[in-house]
Amino acid sequence: MSSDCGWRLAAAVSNAGALGTIGSLGRTPANLRDEIRQCRAATDRPFAVNIACFQWAGFAGELLGVAIEEDVPAVTLSFGDVMPALRRSRAAGVRVTVQVQTIAAARVVLAERPDLLIVQGHEAGGHTGTRGTLSFAAQALGIAGGTPVAVAGGIGNGRGLAGVLAMGAAAAVIGTRFKATPEFGPLSNLDAEQKAALVESDGDDTVHGAITDIAIGMTWPPGIAGRVLRNRFTTDWLGRENELRQAVAARPEPYGWTSQHNQDQDTVLNWAGESAGLIDRVRPAAEIVEETVRDAESLLRVVADLTT
Ligand SMILES: Cc1cc2nc3c(=O)[nH]c(=O)nc-3n(C[C@H](O)[C@H](O)[C@H](O)COP(=O)(O)O)c2cc1C
Repeated sequence: MSSDCGWRLAAAVSNAGALGTIGSLGRTPANLRDEIRQCRAATDRPFAVNIACFQWAGFAGELLGVAIEEDVPAVTLSFGDVMPALRRSRAAGVRVTVQVQTIAAARVVLAERPDLLIVQGHEAGGHTGTRGTLSFAAQALGIAGGTPVAVAGGIGNGRGLAGVLAMGAAAAVIGTRFKATPEFGPLSNLDAEQKAALVESDGDDTVHGAITDIAIGMTWPPGIAGRVLRNRFTTDWLGRENELRQAVAARPEPYGWTSQHNQDQDTVLNWAGESAGLIDRVRPAAEIVEETVRDAESLLRVVADLTT
Protein backbone atom coordinates (compact mmCIF):
# COMPACT_ATOMS: atom_id res chain seq x y z
CA MET A 1 0.00 0.00 0.00
CA SER A 2 2.31 2.71 -1.33
CA SER A 3 5.19 4.19 0.63
CA ASP A 4 2.95 4.79 3.66
CA CYS A 5 3.18 1.04 4.21
CA GLY A 6 6.67 0.29 5.41
CA TRP A 7 8.60 -2.35 7.31
CA ARG A 8 6.69 -1.86 10.57
CA LEU A 9 3.36 -2.98 9.12
CA ALA A 10 4.89 -5.61 6.83
CA ALA A 11 6.85 -7.19 9.68
CA ALA A 12 3.89 -7.06 12.09
CA VAL A 13 1.64 -8.81 9.55
CA SER A 14 4.28 -11.43 8.73
CA ASN A 15 5.06 -12.05 12.40
CA ALA A 16 1.34 -12.68 12.97
CA GLY A 17 1.39 -15.44 10.34
CA ALA A 18 0.16 -13.67 7.18
CA LEU A 19 2.34 -12.25 4.39
CA GLY A 20 3.18 -8.60 4.99
CA THR A 21 4.01 -6.34 2.06
CA ILE A 22 6.24 -3.28 1.87
CA GLY A 23 4.82 -0.68 -0.51
CA SER A 24 7.33 0.94 -2.85
CA LEU A 25 5.29 3.47 -4.84
CA GLY A 26 6.72 6.86 -3.90
CA ARG A 27 10.01 5.52 -2.52
CA THR A 28 13.49 5.98 -3.85
CA PRO A 29 15.59 2.85 -4.45
CA ALA A 30 17.83 3.70 -1.47
CA ASN A 31 14.82 4.13 0.79
CA LEU A 32 13.34 0.80 -0.33
CA ARG A 33 16.64 -0.97 0.39
CA ASP A 34 16.58 0.47 3.89
CA GLU A 35 12.96 -0.64 4.42
CA ILE A 36 13.75 -4.19 3.27
CA ARG A 37 16.70 -4.42 5.64
CA GLN A 38 14.66 -3.10 8.56
CA CYS A 39 11.89 -5.57 7.77
CA ARG A 40 14.40 -8.45 7.75
CA ALA A 41 15.67 -7.34 11.12
CA ALA A 42 12.12 -7.29 12.50
CA THR A 43 10.88 -10.65 11.19
CA ASP A 44 12.35 -13.97 10.15
CA ARG A 45 9.15 -14.82 8.30
CA PRO A 46 8.51 -14.26 4.57
CA PHE A 47 7.36 -10.84 3.38
CA ALA A 48 6.79 -9.23 -0.03
CA VAL A 49 7.63 -5.99 -1.80
CA ASN A 50 5.06 -4.38 -4.09
CA ILE A 51 6.17 -2.83 -7.37
CA ALA A 52 3.72 -0.70 -9.38
CA CYS A 53 4.81 -1.16 -13.00
CA PHE A 54 2.97 1.56 -14.91
CA GLN A 55 4.83 4.13 -16.93
CA TRP A 56 4.45 7.00 -14.48
CA ALA A 57 5.51 5.04 -11.42
CA GLY A 58 8.86 6.52 -10.47
CA PHE A 59 11.92 4.22 -10.45
CA ALA A 60 9.86 1.03 -11.06
CA GLY A 61 12.72 -0.84 -12.74
CA GLU A 62 15.25 0.26 -10.13
CA LEU A 63 12.92 -0.59 -7.26
CA LEU A 64 12.52 -4.09 -8.65
CA GLY A 65 16.30 -4.28 -8.99
CA VAL A 66 16.68 -3.45 -5.30
CA ALA A 67 14.10 -6.08 -4.31
CA ILE A 68 15.97 -8.68 -6.38
CA GLU A 69 19.40 -7.66 -5.05
CA GLU A 70 18.10 -7.86 -1.50
CA ASP A 71 16.72 -11.32 -2.31
CA VAL A 72 13.25 -10.58 -0.93
CA PRO A 73 11.05 -13.66 -0.48
CA ALA A 74 8.39 -12.37 -2.93
CA VAL A 75 7.38 -9.43 -5.09
CA THR A 76 3.83 -8.39 -5.92
CA LEU A 77 3.50 -6.64 -9.27
CA SER A 78 0.58 -4.48 -10.28
CA PHE A 79 -0.68 -1.88 -12.75
CA GLY A 80 0.65 -1.38 -16.28
CA ASP A 81 2.85 -3.78 -18.20
CA VAL A 82 3.91 -6.27 -15.55
CA MET A 83 5.39 -8.80 -17.98
CA PRO A 84 9.02 -7.57 -18.08
CA ALA A 85 9.08 -7.37 -14.28
CA LEU A 86 7.45 -10.80 -13.98
CA ARG A 87 10.07 -12.41 -16.23
CA ARG A 88 12.92 -10.56 -14.54
CA SER A 89 11.79 -11.64 -11.07
CA ARG A 90 11.37 -15.21 -12.27
CA ALA A 91 14.83 -15.28 -13.80
CA ALA A 92 16.26 -14.02 -10.51
CA GLY A 93 14.49 -16.77 -8.57
CA VAL A 94 12.15 -14.40 -6.68
CA ARG A 95 8.59 -15.61 -6.10
CA VAL A 96 6.23 -13.43 -8.05
CA THR A 97 2.59 -12.56 -7.53
CA VAL A 98 0.66 -10.35 -9.92
CA GLN A 99 -2.44 -8.27 -9.14
CA VAL A 100 -4.92 -7.82 -12.02
CA GLN A 101 -8.19 -5.95 -12.49
CA THR A 102 -9.64 -7.65 -15.61
CA ILE A 103 -10.15 -11.18 -16.87
CA ALA A 104 -8.23 -10.26 -20.03
CA ALA A 105 -5.20 -9.36 -17.91
CA ALA A 106 -5.69 -12.49 -15.78
CA ARG A 107 -5.50 -14.66 -18.91
CA VAL A 108 -2.29 -13.00 -20.09
CA VAL A 109 -0.65 -13.30 -16.67
CA LEU A 110 -1.83 -16.88 -16.06
CA ALA A 111 -0.11 -17.94 -19.28
CA GLU A 112 3.18 -17.03 -17.54
CA ARG A 113 2.27 -19.12 -14.49
CA PRO A 114 3.04 -16.67 -11.67
CA ASP A 115 3.38 -18.12 -8.16
CA LEU A 116 0.11 -16.40 -7.23
CA LEU A 117 -2.50 -14.36 -9.10
CA ILE A 118 -4.34 -11.63 -7.17
CA VAL A 119 -7.69 -10.57 -8.59
CA GLN A 120 -8.64 -7.14 -7.32
CA GLY A 121 -12.25 -5.98 -7.38
CA HIS A 122 -13.74 -2.51 -7.66
CA GLU A 123 -14.51 -2.30 -3.92
CA ALA A 124 -10.79 -2.09 -3.09
CA GLY A 125 -9.11 0.96 -1.64
CA GLY A 126 -6.40 2.83 -3.50
CA HIS A 127 -6.26 2.18 -7.24
CA THR A 128 -8.58 -0.36 -8.76
CA GLY A 129 -10.55 -1.29 -11.86
CA THR A 130 -14.25 -1.70 -12.46
CA ARG A 131 -14.99 -5.42 -11.87
CA GLY A 132 -16.91 -6.30 -8.71
CA THR A 133 -14.92 -8.70 -6.54
CA LEU A 134 -17.28 -11.68 -6.37
CA SER A 135 -18.00 -12.52 -10.00
CA PHE A 136 -14.48 -11.53 -11.03
CA ALA A 137 -12.96 -13.90 -8.47
CA ALA A 138 -15.30 -16.74 -9.43
CA GLN A 139 -14.39 -16.30 -13.10
CA ALA A 140 -10.65 -16.13 -12.43
CA LEU A 141 -10.80 -19.22 -10.21
CA GLY A 142 -12.49 -21.01 -13.09
CA ILE A 143 -9.60 -20.35 -15.48
CA ALA A 144 -6.63 -20.40 -13.11
CA GLY A 145 -5.68 -24.04 -13.63
CA GLY A 146 -2.91 -24.87 -11.18
CA THR A 147 -2.08 -21.25 -10.30
CA PRO A 148 -3.25 -20.24 -6.81
CA VAL A 149 -5.55 -17.20 -6.72
CA ALA A 150 -5.85 -14.60 -3.96
CA VAL A 151 -8.81 -12.23 -3.84
CA ALA A 152 -8.56 -8.51 -3.05
CA GLY A 153 -11.22 -5.85 -2.65
CA GLY A 154 -13.75 -5.48 0.13
CA ILE A 155 -12.31 -8.14 2.44
CA GLY A 156 -11.69 -6.85 5.93
CA ASN A 157 -12.62 -9.56 8.40
CA GLY A 158 -13.16 -13.28 8.88
CA ARG A 159 -16.39 -13.31 6.90
CA GLY A 160 -14.66 -12.09 3.76
CA LEU A 161 -11.72 -14.44 4.24
CA ALA A 162 -14.02 -17.43 4.80
CA GLY A 163 -16.06 -16.44 1.74
CA VAL A 164 -13.14 -16.40 -0.67
CA LEU A 165 -11.54 -19.54 0.80
CA ALA A 166 -14.87 -21.33 0.38
CA MET A 167 -14.88 -20.22 -3.28
CA GLY A 168 -11.57 -21.96 -3.78
CA ALA A 169 -9.18 -19.03 -3.38
CA ALA A 170 -5.81 -19.61 -1.76
CA ALA A 171 -5.85 -16.34 0.21
CA ALA A 172 -7.41 -12.94 0.74
CA VAL A 173 -5.54 -9.67 0.27
CA ILE A 174 -6.44 -7.04 2.84
CA GLY A 175 -5.40 -3.41 2.43
CA THR A 176 -7.82 -0.83 3.81
CA ARG A 177 -8.31 -2.56 7.17
CA PHE A 178 -4.56 -2.44 7.84
CA LYS A 179 -4.52 1.30 7.26
CA ALA A 180 -6.24 1.68 10.63
CA THR A 181 -3.25 0.30 12.55
CA PRO A 182 -0.53 2.05 14.54
CA GLU A 183 2.02 0.40 12.23
CA PHE A 184 0.66 2.07 9.04
CA GLY A 185 2.08 5.46 8.13
CA PRO A 186 2.63 7.92 9.69
CA LEU A 187 0.29 9.74 7.32
CA SER A 188 1.96 13.15 7.57
CA ASN A 189 0.34 15.49 10.07
CA LEU A 190 -3.13 14.01 9.54
CA ASP A 191 -2.33 10.48 10.66
CA ALA A 192 -4.79 10.36 13.56
CA GLU A 193 -7.49 12.19 11.60
CA GLN A 194 -7.27 9.93 8.54
CA LYS A 195 -7.39 6.78 10.66
CA ALA A 196 -10.29 8.19 12.72
CA ALA A 197 -12.18 8.87 9.47
CA LEU A 198 -11.75 5.19 8.55
CA VAL A 199 -13.18 4.15 11.91
CA GLU A 200 -16.10 6.56 11.38
CA SER A 201 -16.81 5.30 7.86
CA ASP A 202 -19.79 3.01 7.35
CA GLY A 203 -18.40 1.86 4.00
CA ASP A 204 -21.06 3.75 2.00
CA ASP A 205 -18.90 6.83 1.79
CA THR A 206 -16.12 5.96 -0.66
CA VAL A 207 -15.89 7.31 -4.20
CA HIS A 208 -14.00 6.02 -7.24
CA GLY A 209 -12.90 8.27 -10.06
CA ALA A 210 -10.25 10.07 -12.06
CA ILE A 211 -10.15 13.15 -9.83
CA THR A 212 -7.66 11.56 -7.43
CA ASP A 213 -5.10 11.09 -10.19
CA ILE A 214 -5.73 14.49 -11.72
CA ALA A 215 -5.02 15.93 -8.27
CA ILE A 216 -1.78 13.99 -7.78
CA GLY A 217 -0.69 14.52 -11.38
CA MET A 218 -0.11 10.86 -12.22
CA THR A 219 -1.44 9.02 -15.27
CA TRP A 220 -2.53 5.50 -14.38
CA PRO A 221 -3.25 2.77 -16.92
CA PRO A 222 -6.62 2.89 -18.74
CA GLY A 223 -9.52 1.57 -16.68
CA ILE A 224 -7.79 2.22 -13.35
CA ALA A 225 -8.85 4.98 -10.96
CA GLY A 226 -8.51 5.78 -7.27
CA ARG A 227 -10.94 5.01 -4.45
CA VAL A 228 -10.92 7.35 -1.46
CA LEU A 229 -13.18 8.35 1.41
CA ARG A 230 -15.62 11.07 0.43
CA ASN A 231 -14.82 14.55 1.74
CA ARG A 232 -15.15 18.13 0.62
CA PHE A 233 -12.52 17.64 -2.11
CA THR A 234 -14.43 14.76 -3.74
CA THR A 235 -17.79 16.50 -3.35
CA ASP A 236 -16.43 19.68 -4.95
CA TRP A 237 -14.69 18.04 -7.92
CA LEU A 238 -16.40 14.79 -8.93
CA GLY A 239 -17.86 15.44 -12.39
CA ARG A 240 -15.71 18.56 -12.90
CA GLU A 241 -12.58 16.79 -14.13
CA ASN A 242 -11.60 19.38 -16.75
CA GLU A 243 -11.91 22.28 -14.32
CA LEU A 244 -9.80 20.32 -11.80
CA ARG A 245 -7.12 19.77 -14.45
CA GLN A 246 -6.98 23.53 -14.97
CA ALA A 247 -6.84 24.24 -11.25
CA VAL A 248 -3.98 21.74 -10.79
CA ALA A 249 -2.12 23.17 -13.81
CA ALA A 250 -2.30 26.60 -12.20
CA ARG A 251 -0.06 25.19 -9.42
CA PRO A 252 2.93 24.19 -11.56
CA GLU A 253 5.34 23.26 -8.75
CA PRO A 254 5.59 19.46 -8.32
CA TYR A 255 2.66 18.17 -6.30
CA GLY A 256 1.72 21.77 -5.48
CA TRP A 257 -1.95 20.99 -5.46
CA THR A 258 -1.75 17.85 -3.33
CA SER A 259 0.78 19.21 -0.88
CA GLN A 260 -1.58 22.07 -0.11
CA HIS A 261 -4.68 19.86 0.09
CA ASN A 262 -2.98 17.15 2.13
CA GLN A 263 -2.83 19.58 5.04
CA ASP A 264 -6.55 19.51 5.57
CA GLN A 265 -8.83 16.63 6.57
CA ASP A 266 -11.57 18.06 4.32
CA THR A 267 -9.43 17.88 1.21
CA VAL A 268 -6.81 15.16 1.84
CA LEU A 269 -7.01 12.04 -0.35
CA ASN A 270 -7.80 9.35 2.22
CA TRP A 271 -7.28 6.25 0.06
CA ALA A 272 -9.68 3.56 1.27
CA GLY A 273 -12.09 0.92 0.06
CA GLU A 274 -15.59 -0.15 1.03
CA SER A 275 -14.14 -2.43 3.70
CA ALA A 276 -13.64 0.76 5.73
CA GLY A 277 -17.13 -0.12 6.97
CA LEU A 278 -15.59 -3.14 8.75
CA ILE A 279 -13.09 -1.11 10.76
CA ASP A 280 -14.12 -0.85 14.41
CA ARG A 281 -11.07 0.90 15.83
CA VAL A 282 -7.39 1.55 15.26
CA ARG A 283 -5.61 -1.52 16.56
CA PRO A 284 -2.40 -3.49 16.12
CA ALA A 285 -2.01 -5.41 12.86
CA ALA A 286 -1.39 -8.68 14.70
CA GLU A 287 -4.80 -8.46 16.36
CA ILE A 288 -6.46 -8.03 12.96
CA VAL A 289 -4.65 -11.05 11.49
CA GLU A 290 -5.45 -13.24 14.50
CA GLU A 291 -9.12 -12.25 14.72
CA THR A 292 -9.65 -12.55 10.97
CA VAL A 293 -8.18 -16.05 10.83
CA ARG A 294 -10.00 -17.19 13.99
CA ASP A 295 -13.38 -15.92 12.72
CA ALA A 296 -12.84 -17.39 9.25
CA GLU A 297 -11.99 -20.77 10.77
CA SER A 298 -15.14 -20.89 12.86
CA LEU A 299 -17.32 -19.84 9.92
CA LEU A 300 -15.72 -22.47 7.70
CA ARG A 301 -16.41 -25.11 10.39
CA VAL A 302 -20.09 -24.18 10.22
CA VAL A 303 -19.98 -24.51 6.42
CA ALA A 304 -18.22 -27.88 6.73
CA ASP A 305 -20.87 -29.09 9.20
CA LEU A 306 -23.61 -28.08 6.76
CA THR A 307 -22.12 -30.33 4.13
CA THR A 308 -21.70 -33.46 6.26
C1 LIG B 1 -4.00 3.15 1.05
C2 LIG B 1 -3.85 2.14 -0.04
C3 LIG B 1 -2.75 2.19 -0.89
C4 LIG B 1 -2.58 1.23 -1.88
N1 LIG B 1 -1.46 1.26 -2.66
C5 LIG B 1 -1.21 0.24 -3.53
C6 LIG B 1 0.02 0.18 -4.24
O1 LIG B 1 0.91 1.03 -4.09
N2 LIG B 1 0.21 -0.87 -5.08
C7 LIG B 1 -0.75 -1.86 -5.25
O2 LIG B 1 -0.51 -2.80 -6.00
N3 LIG B 1 -1.93 -1.80 -4.63
C8 LIG B 1 -2.18 -0.79 -3.75
N4 LIG B 1 -3.36 -0.76 -3.05
C9 LIG B 1 -4.39 -1.80 -3.31
C10 LIG B 1 -4.09 -3.07 -2.49
O3 LIG B 1 -3.02 -3.76 -3.12
C11 LIG B 1 -5.28 -4.04 -2.42
O4 LIG B 1 -5.65 -4.49 -3.70
C12 LIG B 1 -6.52 -3.46 -1.76
O5 LIG B 1 -6.20 -2.68 -0.64
C13 LIG B 1 -7.46 -4.59 -1.36
O6 LIG B 1 -8.74 -4.12 -1.10
P1 LIG B 1 -9.18 -3.48 0.30
O7 LIG B 1 -8.62 -2.11 0.30
O8 LIG B 1 -10.67 -3.52 0.23
O9 LIG B 1 -8.63 -4.34 1.39
C14 LIG B 1 -3.56 0.21 -2.06
C15 LIG B 1 -4.67 0.17 -1.20
C16 LIG B 1 -4.82 1.13 -0.21
C17 LIG B 1 -6.04 1.03 0.69
